[in-house]
Amino acid sequence: MTFYIETERLLLRELRLSDLEGMFTLDSDPEVHKYLGNKPVKTIDESQKILESVLKQYKERGIGRFAVIEKDSGDFVGWSGLRLNTEYNMNGFTRYYDVGYRLMKRFWGKGYATESGKASVDYAFNCMKLPEVYATTEFGNQASHNALLKIGLYYVEDFYFEQEQVNLRWYKMTSP
Ligand SMILES: CC(C)(COP(=O)(O)OP(=O)(O)OC[C@H]1O[C@@H](n2cnc3c(N)ncnc32)[C@H](O)[C@@H]1OP(=O)(O)O)[C@@H](O)C(=O)NCCC(=O)NCCS
Repeated sequence: MTFYIETERLLLRELRLSDLEGMFTLDSDPEVHKYLGNKPVKTIDESQKILESVLKQYKERGIGRFAVIEKDSGDFVGWSGLRLNTEYNMNGFTRYYDVGYRLMKRFWGKGYATESGKASVDYAFNCMKLPEVYATTEFGNQASHNALLKIGLYYVEDFYFEQEQVNLRWYKMTSP
C-alpha cells in the first residue's frame, strides 16, 4: 500500500523503517512528550517497535499515521494523519478513526500541523469515504487544540481517560 499526498509545503507518505533516526529524535524529546504522558523514549529500540507497529497497522487496518516531509529541505518533520483506534476505550468509543500529529520542535509554529491535518481529513472524507473522524488532546495542549479547530474539527467535551488517569478533550468532524 502506498500513500502519497502533496500539500503546498509538505509531502505525506507512508512511514518507513528508514525513518528510524527521525522517529527517535522526535520521540526522545521531553518537550514533544509534555502532553503525551511525559514518557519520551530512551532507546532506539523503542522507536523501532513504534515504527514496526505503524507498518503493521498499514497492513492490517489499511491506514496509519503518515510521515511528514518538508518539500523545500527534504527533512523529516514528524508524522501526521489518521489512525484506526481499536485498542483503547476513548470516551466510550472503541473503534474509530482519529486525526493526530507529532512534529519535531524546530518545525513548530509554521502551520504544518494545520496543513498536514487538513490533507488528512480530506483524505478521510474524499478517498476513504469515512462519515466522521475524531481527535483527542490532553487538557492544556493549546497548540493542538488550536490546530484541530483550524483543521475543521469541533470541540465536543472533556472526559477522563481512566487507563492513563488524565483529563482529555474530545473532538469530532463530520464528512461535509
Ligand atoms: C501540537 C503541534 C503538532 C502543533 O503543531 P504546529 O505545526 O506548531 O501547529 P500550527 O502551526 O499548525 O498551529 C495551529 C494553531 O495553533 C497555534 N499555536 C501553535 N502553538 C501554540 C502554542 N504553544 N500555544 C497556543 N497556540 C499555539 C498557532 O498559532 C495556530 O493558530 P493561528 O494560525 O491562529 O496562529 C506541535 O506543537 C507538536 O508536535 N507538539 C508535540 C506533540 C503533540 O502535542 N501532539 C498533539 C497531541 S494531541
